[in-house]
Amino acid sequence: MSESHIIIAIDGYSSTGKSSFAKRIASAYGLLYLDSGALYRAVTLVAMENGFISDGKLDISLLQPFLGDLNIHFRDNGPEGNQTFIGGRNVEKEIRSMEVSSNVSPVAADRNVRNYVDGILHEMGRQRSVVMDGRDIGTTVFPEADLKIFMTADPSVRAMRRAAELKAKGQECPLEDVLKNLQERDYIDSHREISPLTQAPDAIVLDNSNMTFDDQMQWIAGIMKQKFNLKPLDE
Ligand code: DC
Repeated sequence: MSESHIIIAIDGYSSTGKSSFAKRIASAYGLLYLDSGALYRAVTLVAMENGFISDGKLDISLLQPFLGDLNIHFRDNGPEGNQTFIGGRNVEKEIRSMEVSSNVSPVAADRNVRNYVDGILHEMGRQRSVVMDGRDIGTTVFPEADLKIFMTADPSVRAMRRAAELKAKGQECPLEDVLKNLQERDYIDSHREISPLTQAPDAIVLDNSNMTFDDQMQWIAGIMKQKFNLKPLDE
């Protein structure tokens, strides 16, 4: 990678705040933010709406013919920021629902789906300097990433954060259900055969259980300065 073309990979457990952190890094340093989980969620929505998932299992033979033409992409939607689209349809809100969260793991475990998503991520990472968040960005998608961060936090802290996020969106859900869902996803994400969630040996661990958002931005500022000699755009 040239100095002017930077790839930052942020992996870690569900609800550790990867997306918010990655988004803020992208805007602070003028990089493109890519939410790989949103792509898996959008594919899951399509599979659910078409009845391709039953008893928690995806029938890939039914989904496969659709994959090439789905046209899942991100679009800058003015004040709402970057939103996920399937063709001309804005699905940003729907893909964050508990229903999608409960069905995404078997979809993300499928090799064909992973190849589809990796293709989109590779193409975007080739064109621009990016911050990507996900589960396997630093291990599989961009093993040559210039900076790898592995995020973790106490499960109860994560469940509280996710429940508050859902509540703010008008989707109130009992804390036990949120905790159960994220522990199940942690297990499946870490134990699946293809691209399991693991910490890359050269990743820097960020445990933000007791950190504020500002603490995290200060932490990353030190790393960006030391590694790339970059300062936030507004400094
Ligand atoms: O980050 P998230 O919770 O929005 O991700 C949704 C799901 O997608 C998550 O349960 C695991 C899967 N995922 C993945 O397998 N690989 C990625 N790079 C990103 C997400």
